[in-house]
Amino acid sequence: MPHLVKGVVARSKGAPVSVETIEVPDPGPGEVLVDVKACGVCHTDLHFREGAISDEFPFLLGHEAAGIIEEVGEGVDNVSPGDFVILNWRAVCGECRSCKRGRPWYCFDTHNATQKMTVEETPLTAALGIGAFAEKTLVAAGQATKVNSQAKPEVAGLVGCGVMAGLGAAINTGQVTRGDSVAVFGCGGVGDAAIAGSNLAGAHTIIAVDIDERKLEMAKEFGATHTVDSSKEDPIEAIRGITGGNGADVVIDAVGIPSTYEQSFFARDLAGTVVLVGVPNPEMKIELPLQEVFGRGGSLKSSWYGDCLPSRDFPMLIDLHLQGRLNLEKFVSETISLNDVEEAFHAMERGEVLRSVVIL
Ligand SMILES: NC(=O)c1ccc[n+]([C@@H]2O[C@H](COP(=O)([O-])OP(=O)(O)OC[C@H]3O[C@@H](n4cnc5c(N)ncnc54)[C@H](O)[C@@H]3O)[C@@H](O)[C@H]2O)c1
Ligand SMILES: [Zn+2]
Ligand SMILES: [Zn+2]
Repeated sequence: MPHLVKGVVARSKGAPVSVETIEVPDPGPGEVLVDVKACGVCHTDLHFREGAISDEFPFLLGHEAAGIIEEVGEGVDNVSPGDFVILNWRAVCGECRSCKRGRPWYCFDTHNATQKMTVEETPLTAALGIGAFAEKTLVAAGQATKVNSQAKPEVAGLVGCGVMAGLGAAINTGQVTRGDSVAVFGCGGVGDAAIAGSNLAGAHTIIAVDIDERKLEMAKEFGATHTVDSSKEDPIEAIRGITGGNGADVVIDAVGIPSTYEQSFFARDLAGTVVLVGVPNPEMKIELPLQEVFGRGGSLKSSWYGDCLPSRDFPMLIDLHLQGRLNLEKFVSETISLNDVEEAFHAMERGEVLRSVVIL
């Protein structure tokens, strides 16, 4: 029997979200029903409600979640009812040309639930194929990864998006390693995770760049060795100054707008790497001197979901956290209820929080 539960719906572009009764089907073949325990508010949810990602309204928001498997559909063998899981938005297919080339983290045909959840019989588009600002949600079995249940849901859920994207942008995409210098533009949840990842990987110099002093203070707690307020000084000059005049080995743009991308491009050392993990909107364009693109060498990369493999990376990050080697608690600025998501977007816009996390 379908389940009637509360969920946070974005009905139209820019309009405030509302808590509505949604219908969640029983899991069909290859699907699982998840009793959601916690879901973080990520900037990408706000991008969805602003219509900056697609116009397939209404959206069921929320995609940074942990919960308990309630029911599994036919043929599901990776999880069972009662398992504590983190949800992911890139469940690899194993069949596409990228998976077949041995690069499943780029999978071009990731899986979501086949059946739609609905609001008043209108199909909902689940944000990133998850839709976890809801008491229950329906996902493809591969979107659920079992992790150690000793982790708190509000902390574990964050690994499902912002923490993984930022950490992976540093470790997987940027391949930050011992002794590197790293600069991170934008010290929100994603940027601070990139800082924590660089710290974990043994980077020597970690430069946090933001336009908000409060964010720079928080960045120090994740391992930033230097901070640059780019509303007050030129970050390119500042980063070069800190790195002996050279620029950083790896520069991570966790804002995703033309100005920060350009600053990232010029703030890296010769043969360095720029990683774009912030998500631009469809209108944004960038102009760079092509001779500099060539002359500076190195690589300009994008990081989809931190180039992660959830089945490999989620249990590992939760274990590091439980061992006391990765402080995830610091990302949780406040815990809130489903009714507070709209206000949490405003708190995010005002720069007051790293992560507001809905507890269910
Ligand atoms: N690639 C992925 O897989 C992935 C996953 C999750 C989120 N994201 C994206 O990452 C970005 C960051 O997400 P978040 O949740 O950390 O957002 P957030 O709003 O918490 O943080 C953004 C930070 O950038 C700072 N900032 C804004 N403009 C700036 C500027 N011009 N220069 C320097 N700093 C500036 C803000 O002060 C804030 O601290 C978003 O675009 C989000 O959509 C990408
Ligand atoms: Zn997200
Ligand atoms: Zn694939």
